[in-house]
Amino acid sequence: MSLRGKTVVLGITGGIAAYKSVSLVSMLRKAECTVHVIMTKNATQFVTPLTFETLSNQPVVVDTFERPERWEVAHVALAKKADVFVIAPATANVLAKAACGLADDMLTSTLLATKAPLFFAPAMNTGMWTALPTQHNVAVLKERGCHFVGPEGGFLACGDSGAGRMSEPAAIFAAIEKLLSAADDFAGLKVMVTAGGTRERLDPVRYLGNNSTGKMGFALAQAAADRGAQVLLVCGMTTAEPPQGIECVRVESTMDLYQAVTSQAPEMDVVIQAAAPADYRFKEVHAQKMKKQHGMPLLLELVENPDIAAAIGKAKRSDQIFVGFAAETEKLSANARQKLEAKNCDLIVANDVTQPGAGFGTDTNIATLITRDEMTDCPLQSKRDLADVILNKVMQLRNSTVCK
Ligand code: PMT
Repeated sequence: MSLRGKTVVLGITGGIAAYKSVSLVSMLRKAECTVHVIMTKNATQFVTPLTFETLSNQPVVVDTFERPERWEVAHVALAKKADVFVIAPATANVLAKAACGLADDMLTSTLLATKAPLFFAPAMNTGMWTALPTQHNVAVLKERGCHFVGPEGGFLACGDSGAGRMSEPAAIFAAIEKLLSAADDFAGLKVMVTAGGTRERLDPVRYLGNNSTGKMGFALAQAAADRGAQVLLVCGMTTAEPPQGIECVRVESTMDLYQAVTSQAPEMDVVIQAAAPADYRFKEVHAQKMKKQHGMPLLLELVENPDIAAAIGKAKRSDQIFVGFAAETEKLSANARQKLEAKNCDLIVANDVTQPGAGFGTDTNIATLITRDEMTDCPLQSKRDLADVILNKVMQLRNSTVCK
């Protein structure tokens, strides 16, 4: 894959591994990328801006706050230019700032403003890397769809040995290349992804809900955006955070989800229903908190919600691809096949939610992809990796539909 013509914004933070980023810039330039380097003040203690300026053939932005009016314009301009934003080395400090959305210098302000995919190559002492706050920040950033390369284990500059070494420039380069190589196959396509569960109100304090965290839908939305799609995320109740930089509409109930999805579906090339909408809602929603019945059984009547997937399937154009999910606890493929037909899906992603590592809440999933012609088993893998496998299948289906 050629990185030719891509723009990489490279943030350098203050660590001895900054010297390795010199080779990274050189590799990127050889691959005919435009590289813009932003250095924190501390980073300039390890390598001079002139080194990066010479190699990148671009002015290096250093965090001096000397000319704030230019600074303001420059950070927005670089944020917009980036095809990918890489921070290498990434210190514990910059990971913490990124996780919290702090923007107190040029690098973190640009980082906060960008919609480009983010890559971190952490480098720090083992104790700092394994510290709970750092691991929490990494988890938050991963959940938001940020990518990580390394750190590797080995001998560290501080004399310790363990995890904390920045990955070699060749590994960082390969990871950037892999991300950007997938980046274009969805360019020009509009993709709607639903994520999370719905909440059906009973009274002001009680509801009917489910365990969906949104992670599967978020992984799909991020993967589609990374591959160049214009993504609309319709997001129910979630505990995970939606990925940054993707248009997100929030809904609460299945009826809300139905309205949002059916109004937008005609505009879409691909619709992916990873959400877990409630099949039923309460017939009566009480305006005040319901009181105990004192010994009397409480009978609550449920009425069926509209089937959103069935509605999309019914209205689907022949050039649209519609992906449904099936969350099953038994007879996985038979039930999923039945849903494929009943909802007129092109693809059903069937997950057995009783299997460890699959379904609700986990960062991983195990699935079977079912189309009218074939069935593909996808073993345990991260939801993000599965998202790419699903999108590959979508692209295959789209190509065969468009070629018909
Ligand atoms: O969010 P996570 O914690 O990451 O968990 C991921 C997941 C388990 C929620 C996801 O992988 C998944 O399986 N999503 C579908 C959950 C579901 O509702 O499955 P179902 O078999 O009940 O429904 C089948 C399909 O019909 C789904 O595409 C669903 O979105 C859709 N449906 C269901 C009810 C309804 N009223 N309208 C619908 O469109």
